[in-house]
Amino acid sequence: MSNRMWGGRFSAGPSAIMEEINASIDFDRKLYAQDIAGSKAHAEMLAARGIISKDDAGKIAEGLDAIKAEIDGGTFTFSRALEDIHMNVESRLKEMIGAAAGRLHTARSRNDQVATDFRLWVRDTLDHVDGQLADLMRALVKRAGEHADTVMPGFTHLQSAQPVTFGHHLMAYVEMLARDRGRVQDARRRLNECPLGSAALAGTSFPIDRHMTAASLGFDRPTANSLDSVSDRDFALEAMAAASIIAVHLSRLAEEIVIWSSAQFGFVRLSDAFSTGSSIMPQKRNPDAAELVRAKAGRIIGDMNALLIIMKGLPLAYQKDMQEDKEQAFDCFENLSLVIAAMTGMVDDLVPNVARMAAAAGSGFSTATDLADWLVRVLGLPFRDAHHVTGRLVAVAAERGIELAEIPLADMKTVHDGITEAVYDVLTVENSVRSRTSHGGTAPDNVRAEVKRWTALLG
Ligand code: ARG
Repeated sequence: MSNRMWGGRFSAGPSAIMEEINASIDFDRKLYAQDIAGSKAHAEMLAARGIISKDDAGKIAEGLDAIKAEIDGGTFTFSRALEDIHMNVESRLKEMIGAAAGRLHTARSRNDQVATDFRLWVRDTLDHVDGQLADLMRALVKRAGEHADTVMPGFTHLQSAQPVTFGHHLMAYVEMLARDRGRVQDARRRLNECPLGSAALAGTSFPIDRHMTAASLGFDRPTANSLDSVSDRDFALEAMAAASIIAVHLSRLAEEIVIWSSAQFGFVRLSDAFSTGSSIMPQKRNPDAAELVRAKAGRIIGDMNALLIIMKGLPLAYQKDMQEDKEQAFDCFENLSLVIAAMTGMVDDLVPNVARMAAAAGSGFSTATDLADWLVRVLGLPFRDAHHVTGRLVAVAAERGIELAEIPLADMKTVHDGITEAVYDVLTVENSVRSRTSHGGTAPDNVRAEVKRWTALLG
């Protein structure tokens, strides 16, 4: 049997393989709410413009509501023979209301229909992600406030570099996520134009009102070019690019959590809720959630890559290749949502080992830069000379297996005779971080001010 919806010129149905490669209903059923909303807006506009009767439009709207209720309630029967969500809905509408259903597809095509549905879905998804990011930021800000004074080693090259505060470290992620939200909101702004009414590719000769459908679906305006409207997917790519950057940020924090929670570091303990045991090694607490957040960044980037590669080289306008856009985006955002939620849970629950972090912050000559800065500030040495003097003092300490603060003054003087007792003040970790008051620096007072600023911004 040929296809009920477009089979007029066909005498036989598709082969089973054709049906399998062609049908998208197994995944695009996810778009049913958007598809029905788009169809209702379209029918209402057709009636307002006198293209279909008000009576038919009323029947269409009622039928569509009933179909939505069936799908919501899990009683709708999806059919692969009907290919996709658009034709599944329309076919059921025909069963329900008869001939009037056939008028719904006037002045539109599945090409503008799917472009509209997908934009609506991406828009809803971006709004959800934005809210989730705000929650994660609130969790980070809260923990940063609790740990504005908690010292830890700051790293470069994963070598102890200078002491920082744990609060400052967490607030670094707040900044990243704030930019991520900016990207999400930007993508939303750009995608918020309505392709509906572009029809197959060229527009339509019916006197439609695209401004009306755009407004009723919450779009800012209709898209300006029918060819572009049905054939571009940059709104999805842009959203997925933003998702990829978010995933990379969360993957970096996840990696830090993996390192911090190792026995060797012991900076944080993850809650039982976000750890697993080993089936063979009873002592283990594995940071599986963090590891999976790290892994899923690869998957999310992969989804974006797949869609970029699908789109490259496609001539205008719609090509069936574009049906493959949806699974990539669905997978991308399903996983993104999960990693943001998992990270929020970990941040809420993790217990820093303050003593262990402080001990590590003070080891490895972490205040060497403070010493060099003191030589510049107090003795007036050029920074390069101060760097050299400090290097020699580090060598003395390393050789004796002591910290810089433990070198007796007399021995310091043999390296540079201008050094005085006052130098010991800058060699403590607490004084080191407290002195970093430059704009954006790690000083606890700075962290507290940032926590206050962000708490107000996040509401
Ligand atoms: N299922 C299709 C998709 O997702 C809908 C558009 C089909 N258009 C067409 N001309 N065959 O892209």
